[in-house]
Amino acid sequence: MSLVLKSGFTFDYDNLYGEGKVTDADLAFYADDLKKAHEAMKVMREKGFIRAHLSKDGEPEKVLFSQTPYIADGHINSPASIARLKELGKHAQENTDVVISLGIGGSFLGNKVLFDVHCGELWNSLSNEQRENYPRIYFSGNNIDPRRTGDIINHLKDVAQIKKKNGAGPLRIMLLVISKSGGTLDTMSNFMGMYDAFMKADNVEVEVVAVTDPNEEKPTLLKKLAIDKGWKQFAVPDGVGGRFTVFTEVGLTLAACIGFDIESFLAGARGMDQACQNDDLWQNPAMLNAVLKFAASEKHGRDIEVMMPYGDYLKSVSEWYIQLLAESLGKQFNKEGKEVCYGRTPVVAVGTTDMHAQTQQHQEGKLNKVVQFIRIDKWADDLVIPNAFPEVKKLADIAGVTMGEALEVARQSNADALASNKRYSAVFGLPELTPYHLGELLYLLAMSIAYEGELADVDAFDQPGVEAYKRIMGPKLQALKG
Ligand code: PA5
Repeated sequence: MSLVLKSGFTFDYDNLYGEGKVTDADLAFYADDLKKAHEAMKVMREKGFIRAHLSKDGEPEKVLFSQTPYIADGHINSPASIARLKELGKHAQENTDVVISLGIGGSFLGNKVLFDVHCGELWNSLSNEQRENYPRIYFSGNNIDPRRTGDIINHLKDVAQIKKKNGAGPLRIMLLVISKSGGTLDTMSNFMGMYDAFMKADNVEVEVVAVTDPNEEKPTLLKKLAIDKGWKQFAVPDGVGGRFTVFTEVGLTLAACIGFDIESFLAGARGMDQACQNDDLWQNPAMLNAVLKFAASEKHGRDIEVMMPYGDYLKSVSEWYIQLLAESLGKQFNKEGKEVCYGRTPVVAVGTTDMHAQTQQHQEGKLNKVVQFIRIDKWADDLVIPNAFPEVKKLADIAGVTMGEALEVARQSNADALASNKRYSAVFGLPELTPYHLGELLYLLAMSIAYEGELADVDAFDQPGVEAYKRIMGPKLQALKG
């Protein structure tokens, strides 16, 4: 059983729905709630309103992520903002050797997805021509790790010295610092360390691009600095929580700096948003995915979701999804203030790697998981496994098929084995790994989470739980200084 979109994107739910899995009776049980959730999504699209959602300061706050795929005047993404992003991309091509993207959580995870999918592991080893003069990319600020920060600083200082010796001009570094609040410890400590080190370094030119809350009346620390120092500024827009910002200037500034096709990415998200407006459950990927996962959890105890894309460069999709699911739905209280301690638990996995690590547990451990596969139907530049050792029968047997085909056989075999032992799974199928289909996938996941928030009656758009440790950490840091 499959929901197939015109684009070729598929959602296969054979191993999640039917006898012994989520049943029609389960769906009938949630029919009214589902109707209400679907209506709530309409209201969210039209008015940016989600019932009972409040900001961190307890004020009513809009929810606008569903507007991001639509490029229009007055929208978060407008023709002017897209043109400005393209200018940034051109500027990076012409004037920048290295971009360091600094951010954490929602200000990092989506950017890493775009980088991994578009650039792959070896981007920084490619020549300028191979990168079409787009800069080399590093990520920082996603931890407070002295070793890694020091490694990046020292490495780039060495590169600057090599350039000097070769008479090749200064190393031009762009610090792309992304923080909605503008003061996050992890991001800002790395930013300050790098800014200080590179400003003092020999043969290095530093440019800063600040992506932060654009509010001018109550400017963030980062915004104040950007104004004082004349840095370029982009926006983490109001009404889009960090984990939904990959479709805003948070993700799109990085996208511009690597030559990722922003318009196609947003078009994919738009196509998915349109599919998700369908009133028919069986034609609405987000509504269907959400209710099947919700019912699997509530009615069958399958409250762990293992996000398992097949392909190395998709692992960061799984890491991005972890934040989306955990931060959106892990909530102590429902919208009426009743304690519910809701939340399915997300787990990162990647195929085939984790078939040699986690699969034993998925196959025989507790009956509490849904394994969500991601499949790429056609890999660009697929490789045929050559018959390198014809004399070795076992190796000759695996020769002649492509690696993409072998990868899919491995995935199917895993799904079949799980199904044969009462284990639930589902598949998102992307015809190819393009910006369009990636846009579809990420948007579908975001919209599914919004549906599930309504089904579970929790606010999917706040994150009060992350304030608890911050309240403890602030005074502890001050005490350390004292
Ligand atoms: O989803 C969220 O809101 C968080 O993960 C934030 O993105 C993260 O804490 C970083 O915050 P900021 O962008 O304010 O530095």
